[in-house]
Amino acid sequence: MRLANRLAKLQSNVFSVMDEAKALARGSGKTIIDLSLGSSDLSAPEHALQAIRTALADASSHGYLLFHGTRSFREACADWYELRYGLRLDPDSEVLPLIGSQEGTAHLPLAVLNPGDVALLLDPGYPSHSGGVHLAGGQVYPLSLLPENGFLPQLERIPAEVVAQSRMLVLSYPHNPTAALAPLEFFEQAVSFCRTHDIVLVHDFPYADMAFEGYRPPSILQADPGRTVAIEFFSLSKSYHMGGFRIGFAVGNRALVAALRQVKTCVDFNQYRGILDGAVAALRGPQDHVQIANSVFHSRRDRTLGALARAGWSVPTPQATMYLWAALPPQWSDRSVEFCVRLVEQTGVALAPGAGFGRAGEGYVRFALVHTEEVLEDAVERTASFLRTANHQSS
Ligand SMILES: Cc1ncc(COP(=O)(O)O)c(C=O)c1O
Repeated sequence: MRLANRLAKLQSNVFSVMDEAKALARGSGKTIIDLSLGSSDLSAPEHALQAIRTALADASSHGYLLFHGTRSFREACADWYELRYGLRLDPDSEVLPLIGSQEGTAHLPLAVLNPGDVALLLDPGYPSHSGGVHLAGGQVYPLSLLPENGFLPQLERIPAEVVAQSRMLVLSYPHNPTAALAPLEFFEQAVSFCRTHDIVLVHDFPYADMAFEGYRPPSILQADPGRTVAIEFFSLSKSYHMGGFRIGFAVGNRALVAALRQVKTCVDFNQYRGILDGAVAALRGPQDHVQIANSVFHSRRDRTLGALARAGWSVPTPQATMYLWAALPPQWSDRSVEFCVRLVEQTGVALAPGAGFGRAGEGYVRFALVHTEEVLEDAVERTASFLRTANHQSS
């Protein structure tokens, strides 16, 4: 069967290689410790679940919702932004419900790019960002993130001819996979760069709440309070452990919100009302669940870093996200996929290979801290023994 050429550009190969390796390891009787996916193992807040149960029992919630979602959801999103960042958004024109933020970031390029237009994307970065650009027939210009620059892109280094063709810049901090942070001043620079060059500024912000030691990640809208160029994507997957419920929202520039809504009118009829009600309960309800979950991820981070240090693997301490971004030992520095495949086959521990997030991710692996501390420690011990055996075999 002849299928569209654009499929060839969609980046799925590395993660499907990992899926096969996990299946093989499982088949050979290994217990798998899967740290390769950023899917939280904690449960959603009880008040959110209760709101969903209530909606389920109400047949009037069972029909189509159409494009705006519910006013109560949009108001809850606007109030949440006001409470956190002191910015008042119009719930009708500046807030859009999404079936997860991935859906929104993948659809936005259809509203912004003409075929051949350039999107400036972080490398390494989240796969739906490039996927959406390819679906829209755009071209990706990767902004390599290097440790010496704190994994921030150097906008001033982008060649002028690339800037001239660029229509969107996608940022995402706290960053998946590197766990890097961006200060508000960097966002201010990005806003000014985008205004100067008439570029849409996208900020994917799912780790807004997953931060430790008092750190409060800034919103891009704080750097663009007039919403002149920016649109931001928030997800309930991480803050409220609702990844499977598929709920998020976009906020920001009205023209961008309207354009994304227009694309979505061809694609979906919105999330189920009960889930929007659950999200309202999560956004408006007591936030102690967020703090408790953060302290769980904080302790997991420290325990895993301690185990890695005992194994002789020095990994930077992240102040946000649920990830550790670990540089591989030199003998593996150009083989992150092979490292991860062999690791899972021999020990059952699945990590995400850095190369799966882009060329500049090669030489790294990402640990997602989505198991208990004991299991994480076990995973590090198994990884350490794999490294010892591999070193021994290569010496
Ligand atoms: C940067 C980034 N964007 C989007 C998502 C997906 O969010 P959602 O579940 O809202 O689609 C993730 C999940 O890991 C992510 O890390």
